[in-house]
Amino acid sequence: MAKPIGIFDSGVGGTSIWKEVAKILPSEKTIYLADSANAPYGEKSKEEILRLSIKNTEYLLGQGCKIVLVACNTATTNAIDYLRSHYAVPFIGIEPAIKPAALHTKTKKVGVLATKGTLSSSLFHNTSKLFAEGITVLEQEGKGLVEFIEAGKIQSKEMKTLLQGFLQPMLDQNIDCLVLGCTHYPYLMPVLKDILPEHINIIDSGEAVARQTKAVLEQHKLLSDFDGDPVHVFYTNAEVKVLKELIDSPTAQVSYLDF
Ligand code: SIN
Repeated sequence: MAKPIGIFDSGVGGTSIWKEVAKILPSEKTIYLADSANAPYGEKSKEEILRLSIKNTEYLLGQGCKIVLVACNTATTNAIDYLRSHYAVPFIGIEPAIKPAALHTKTKKVGVLATKGTLSSSLFHNTSKLFAEGITVLEQEGKGLVEFIEAGKIQSKEMKTLLQGFLQPMLDQNIDCLVLGCTHYPYLMPVLKDILPEHINIIDSGEAVARQTKAVLEQHKLLSDFDGDPVHVFYTNAEVKVLKELIDSPTAQVSYLDF
């Protein structure tokens, strides 16, 4: 099966998922769409998130993708049910890692940092209800974080101040796990490690999603039998600079596309 895996995100953040996928599935070609011109999705209405998710999906399917990875929590929580019921290929989504956090926490208090679009979705609430019984889930909207990451301002002073303001109330309430509920946020790891005490477990979904992608490809007999270095193509409808820096791979082909 030489068809590529299609991946889309509201911008550059889903490359944190692509890295895990490329590690675990080294023979698979990928096509990644960074819809940075429309980032952030987290502030948009459900209808708009759905419209953009359909546009991205149709582009990837037009390129012959055999599976679509929705590498964006906000698009997953607002659009994946629709996508699964309207297109024939399998879809993989990103759900906040509430379950592993609920299993890990000793203080029974878990913080979730995510976008408004994710926190207000019914999928997020159902996941919390299902997996976090007896656990206090402290939700915090990461307003402004995606914009800073898209602008390449990860290590900036403003970023640190913004994060401190979001995290301190959760620390005051004695959380011991922090769930990163947006695929952009793993890029904040150096700043988070600077701010958070050492005992706080920071949990993201990247590795689990890559394992799930592999399992679904196996299940559908869609795994690649390509024996060589696969091509990884990235398109962005904004500037290529930040995307290129975050991918940090000499074999990636990164270009502008008005999709
Ligand atoms: C956003 O575009 O607002 C963030 C994407 C995400 O939720 O992963």
